[in-house]
Amino acid sequence: MKETFTLEKSAVIEIISGLRCTPKHLPSKYFYDEEGSKLFDKITLLDEYYLTRTEKKILNDNLAEFEQLLGDEIELIEPGSGSSEKTRILLDHLTNIKRYIPIDISGDYLFSVADQLRVEYPDITIDPLSVDYTYPFELPNTSSKVQKIVFFPGSTIGNFQLSKIQRFLSILSTIIGKKGGVLIGVDLKKDVATLEEAYNDSRGVTAAFNKNMLLHLNTIINTDFDIDNYTHKAVWVEEKGAVEMRLYSKVNHAITVNGLNFEVRKGEYLHTENSHKYSLDEFSSLVSPWFKVKKVWVDDHKLFSVQYMIPRH
Ligand code: TRP
Repeated sequence: MKETFTLEKSAVIEIISGLRCTPKHLPSKYFYDEEGSKLFDKITLLDEYYLTRTEKKILNDNLAEFEQLLGDEIELIEPGSGSSEKTRILLDHLTNIKRYIPIDISGDYLFSVADQLRVEYPDITIDPLSVDYTYPFELPNTSSKVQKIVFFPGSTIGNFQLSKIQRFLSILSTIIGKKGGVLIGVDLKKDVATLEEAYNDSRGVTAAFNKNMLLHLNTIINTDFDIDNYTHKAVWVEEKGAVEMRLYSKVNHAITVNGLNFEVRKGEYLHTENSHKYSLDEFSSLVSPWFKVKKVWVDDHKLFSVQYMIPRH
């Protein structure tokens, strides 16, 4: 079924401008329809995908220290909360969390998760907020006296382009004020094989996730992608410090978007997503105009980091 006209129109413009680039590019927000979300959940359970289990272990292993560092009475704010799965690790153990504000663009899902959380955590006030957190927003009835902690796991910051990171960090520093802090998950640079395998899993789940974007686009706008024309491949790009998600074309063919034709050559690829990886130094200088990294936790194999950063001003 087609979504509303306005969405369709802005999506068409976005898709067309991406397809006019070299290499051709598709916006990563179209990964997530119902099927895309299911496939992503499967990715997080894959052997090769070390990120989720490693981050959860770091969270579980350092709860006592979080409790001490984060303040006596805190409001926990989570942009892009989804199922709030990792947050439960904090909600289960940190007695200083008085209020939890999950933020997600998809309102229906957000509100149903919030209802469930109210049952599970009767002592924590649950105040969901349905906004696009990559644009400035305000917290519902909040006081500047309460300590505000943003939780941003999953190395999602690594999927943003630089201009979006800058806008996002400045939004965060406004939201938390002078006394608050940010607990953020950041994936680390490591050997290329481990990085590429994480996104080229042997069961082809990441491939299905990447191709699902084309199917999703076919249902929301007038495109005619044939997923059989493409092979998924994730490639480490050293200059960018990122794994790029690509869909390589197996044949010369054309795609049409609202009647406009785009030629795709055999061997050419569509670029769908970046997953940036950082060294600890790179990350601390990336955030340094806004934040000072106060504490870093890593796993024994130095695969992933959870970092606590506080405002500079
Ligand atoms: N932020 C995570 C990562 O980069 C999750 C993620 C976002 C992802 N987009 C993805 C994983 C595309 C696989 C494919 O790993």
